[in-house]
Amino acid sequence: MTVPENFYDAVGGEETFSLIVHRFYEQVRTDDILGPMYPPDDWEGAEQRLKMFLAQYWGGPSDYSEQRGHPRLRMRHAHFPIGVTAAQRWLELMDKAMQDVDITPEQHEAIWDHMLRVADMLINSNPDPHEKR
Ligand code: HEM
Repeated sequence: MTVPENFYDAVGGEETFSLIVHRFYEQVRTDDILGPMYPPDDWEGAEQRLKMFLAQYWGGPSDYSEQRGHPRLRMRHAHFPIGVTAAQRWLELMDKAMQDVDITPEQHEAIWDHMLRVADMLINSNPDPHEKR
């Protein structure tokens, strides 16, 4: 899908992505599966990185590339064992984080579709390390 040039502005720019990512990390911190995967002393940095990435992807400022280079998300997630369970949990928390954000259903759908595709692409572990037996 091509991202319309003004999508970032249309959804509310910086404010909207900050809100989504902040609400997301609020939940990640105490999540039994995802929480332990993140750097415990750099929550603000993690929040910032995801926010910059999403802002850039949707047509906002290119701070992510300037600070982090090419996203290479599969490579950057390679040392976190991500099975279906962790990917589903990530999406579940993101779904909650995106509730009540003031965007249209079409905009919501577009952002969500991208999240789904990336989460799926990041699954790198089979057997699933978090599957309950
Ligand atoms: C599938 C489940 C996922 C898990 C378990 C996961 C886990 C993680 C972890 C533990 C980090 C390191 C935190 C940090 O220090 O930045 C990270 C970074 C990151 N994740 Fe994910 N993630 C998932 C899905 C996603 C998705 C769907 C996206 C994009 C839509 C995404 C985008 C990013 C970005 C941009 C970074 C920062 C990369 C960097 O510049 O270092 N992740 N993720």
